[in-house]
Amino acid sequence: MTAEHQTTARGGSGLMFDAIAERYDFVNRVLSLGMDQSWRRRAVRALELPDNATVLDLATGTGDLAILIARMAPTANVIGIDPSSGMLQVGRTKVEQQHLKDRIDLREGDAQFLDLPDQSVNAVTIAFGIRNVPDRPKALREMARVTKPGGRIAVLELSEPKDGAMGALARFYVRGIVPRVGGTLSGKREYRYLQESIARFPPPEEFAGIMRNSGLTVLQVTPLMFGAAILFVATPEHSTAQG
Ligand SMILES: C[S@@+](CC[C@H](N)C(=O)[O-])C[C@H]1O[C@@H](n2cnc3c(N)ncnc32)[C@H](O)[C@@H]1O
Repeated sequence: MTAEHQTTARGGSGLMFDAIAERYDFVNRVLSLGMDQSWRRRAVRALELPDNATVLDLATGTGDLAILIARMAPTANVIGIDPSSGMLQVGRTKVEQQHLKDRIDLREGDAQFLDLPDQSVNAVTIAFGIRNVPDRPKALREMARVTKPGGRIAVLELSEPKDGAMGALARFYVRGIVPRVGGTLSGKREYRYLQESIARFPPPEEFAGIMRNSGLTVLQVTPLMFGAAILFVATPEHSTAQG
């Protein structure tokens, strides 16, 4: 990553994540009511990985998704990228403890500026990360660029369900409970940002439109747990373009 790129990412929420890195996994499990791992599993299944795949996990954080990919696809190699050195440090310890060092490479970097050749990976994932990226279309175009034709891109993101009684309950949870419980468990105020960034994230159909305008063909938009999380699956447009 160049100095300019580093500033962009570190000036964003990368630094903020350094502050909560130590307690991130624990708080994440509690706040998602234990659902986060099953959502990540859905994302990995949607990749339909070939043998010996190379998978890029953006906003890899403490590496939960990178580790899950390596476990669910035992011949895959994973490159995990994140601007927060604190999150990556926690992730590297987990990777070592789970003896996955030879298949998971965690690197500092920014989803908007990928230091990877065109069409060099079989799949890209980003879980609970795209909302932190300042220029989302740029990151999505980078995902399309580095993915091989026919490869899959899975974006998993939290959302505020808009309709119905469950929607109202989920909104109350995200607005009222998440910042308080997150702040109490982590001892940090950064969980207010979490709630605000979920509220600011565009509705699923609007985000799918941004994906389409960024060089991706959207294959599925799947609400999980009444729309509290959304799984977007896409393939690069160059896979489906004529000629
Ligand atoms: C909520 S965490 C998600 C971590 C992990 N993917 C997971 O499933 O637990 C969001 C991550 O996005 C990272 N992030 C912030 N800005 C980013 C950027 N421009 N490019 C890539 N990652 C970024 C943060 O450092 C943080 O680790």
